[in-house]
This record gives sequence, C-alpha cells and structure tokens, in this order.
Amino acid sequence: MPSIRLGLIGCGGLGRVHADCVSKIPEAAFLAYADLVETAAQAALRDFGGEYATTDVEKVLCDPRIDAVYICTRHDSHASLAIAAAKAGKHILIEKPLALTMAECEAVARAVEAAGVMMMPAFKMRFYPLVQKAHEFIPNPQVVVGQMMDNRWGDDHWAQDPVQGGANVHSQGCHTTDILRYFAGGEPKRLWASGGTMTHPGHPCIDQCVASIQFSSGQVAAWIQGDAATSPFVSKFFFELFGDGKSVQLYDRLKKATFFDGQNTWIEERPEEEGFQLENREFISALLEGRPPILSAHDGIQATRIVLAADKAIRTGEVQEL
Ligand SMILES: NC(=O)c1ccc[n+]([C@@H]2O[C@H](COP(=O)([O-])OP(=O)(O)OC[C@H]3O[C@@H](n4cnc5c(N)ncnc54)[C@H](O)[C@@H]3O)[C@@H](O)[C@H]2O)c1
Repeated sequence: MPSIRLGLIGCGGLGRVHADCVSKIPEAAFLAYADLVETAAQAALRDFGGEYATTDVEKVLCDPRIDAVYICTRHDSHASLAIAAAKAGKHILIEKPLALTMAECEAVARAVEAAGVMMMPAFKMRFYPLVQKAHEFIPNPQVVVGQMMDNRWGDDHWAQDPVQGGANVHSQGCHTTDILRYFAGGEPKRLWASGGTMTHPGHPCIDQCVASIQFSSGQVAAWIQGDAATSPFVSKFFFELFGDGKSVQLYDRLKKATFFDGQNTWIEERPEEEGFQLENREFISALLEGRPPILSAHDGIQATRIVLAADKAIRTGEVQEL
C-alpha cells in the first residue's frame, strides 16, 4: 500500500477525476469511497481500486489508516463535511468553492486550525504551467483581466440550484477570483460590479457578473463571469496581464499564451490541460513532506469573499469595501 492513504467523499464527476489523477501518483491511493448513492461509491471502488465503498461518511472519517480525505460533494455539504473531517484529524482537499457563505468558510478555517490539519482548496487553475509562467513574466501587473464564460447551464443542472450550487457566478467565480488575486499579488480592497440574472430570468441567483476590483497595492482587475456563451476565440478561460511595458494573454483553456516583452511577441503552448494532475501532485507532495500546500484556507476564503461582494454590489448597486 502506498504511504499516503486517502478517502474519497463524493464519488460523482469530480471525485472520479481526482481518483483518476491519484491513480497516476505512486505514493498515494484511495482506500475508501463514500457517497450517499451506493452505486456511485461502488463504481469508484471497482474502477480505481481500494478496500471498501460505503454510504457512511463517518466510517471513512473514523478509519485510522486514512491520512486525508477529498471532499467532492455539492456545495451545500462542503462546510459540514470539512468540519467533521478536521475534527476527525484528517487532512483535506476540498473542491471549490470552499463554501457558499462567509460564515461557513470561516467556520471551516477555524476547525482546520484547531485540529492542526492541512486543507487545500482545489483551485486547479493555479497549477497550469502557463498560468505560473505568466505570473513570473509580470509579477507586479498594473492591470489584470479575467474572464470565465460558460455556455448556458441547464436549468435542471444541480449547480444551478440555489441551495446545492448557487448558479454560475457562485459556483465558478471563485476559480477566476483566486487567479486574479494570485496575479495581482495583493488582497482585494474595493469592488464595483454590475450584472444580474440575465441568462436564467426569474432565478433567484445572479448568473452574470462584470466587476472591477482594486487590490491592496493599487493593482486593478476586470472580472467577467457567467454562462452567456463561450467565446470560440479565447475559450471558456481567458486572462490578460499588463505591467512594466509587457503583456501576456492566456487562452485556449490556458494551454496557450502570447507574451509581449515590449519588443518581441511569441506564443507558447502546452499539449494538454495539466491542472488537475498537478494539483493532486501538490497535495500529495505536501502530505509526504509534512508542509502546508501552496493553497490554504485563506485562499478559499478570499476567493469566495470577492464573489459574495460582487453579488452584493450587483444587488445593491453599491461599492463594496472588502
Ligand atoms: N475544479 C473544477 O474544475 C470542477 C469542475 C466540476 C465540478 N467541480 C466541483 O466538484 C464538486 C462536485 O461536483 P460534481 O460535478 O462531481 O458533482 P456530482 O453531483 O457529479 O457529484 C457529487 C457526488 O457527491 C455525492 N454526495 C452529495 N452529498 C454527499 C454527502 N453528504 N456525503 C457523501 N456523498 C455526497 C453525490 O451523491 C454525488 O455522487 C463541486 O464542488 C463542484 O463545484 C470542480
């Protein structure tokens, strides 16, 4: 058995993506799979190997052989499961968003700190090599642009549900706001936003957001989020940094970047998306080395803080101080 033993909580689409990634990391393996739907847990056990599948999350949390759990459930159960896992002394990788409210995010952070376990929010975009290269190329940008635009989400998709998901801006926005904060290199201070419920009229959640964010050292970011239709030119994800007379654009699902150093322009490409695999590699390496992973509870909190501020700005029309 590899040295790091894991439990998967939530064996749906993303749980299976992580199980596949871990299957390629020799030092780690899933021992247990838990899901409210027994067939989902059994299918994961069959496809990725391990010792048992269960509908009883508590059984996994009480298993002394398990070092860490992956929380890959829908958003309304993230906080309670993370708090239970921390109390059980398990390290945690938690799918985004950390939670849907600030109170829940902060309760998770307190539980993790009190238990002395490590928790990594799963912001896969941090791990794309060209995202890191863009950050190194312009470490102190003056202006950052971030856009994540999906095709229209189905009305019966769980993530569109106000309780389980929170719709597009709440579900996906934290991915973009985390990268904007990473590129800006500071903390968000002030936010202006407009948008609303434009793609799903009558729905209680905001689905489109256009915001400006001012960061602590004066950097500014433009942020677009929603499900109004993917751009065929730049793909679902697009980021652009400007600073020191240089610019860089990231597009084609962050597999391509165009760099401009003030004189020359060049394009760099990666053959495939590497974020999920490298994110898992980082979590396992942190566990093996007994060090905190590069993403912390604070990153999860700040990403959601910006999303919630945008929601409030859109609903009230008021500038938000963060
Ligand atoms: N990082 C990314 O790019 C990315 C992409 C898609 C989804 N996600 C995130 O992954 C998470 C899961 O999304 P998904 O698409 O896999 O959803 P899903 O519905 O396919 O899977 C969720 C699973 O969790 C199970 N579940 C729900 N509550 C549970 C509980 N209390 N205990 C045990 N099992 C429970 C469900 O039965 C289901 O099988 C969400 O947080 C989502 O935002 C991230």
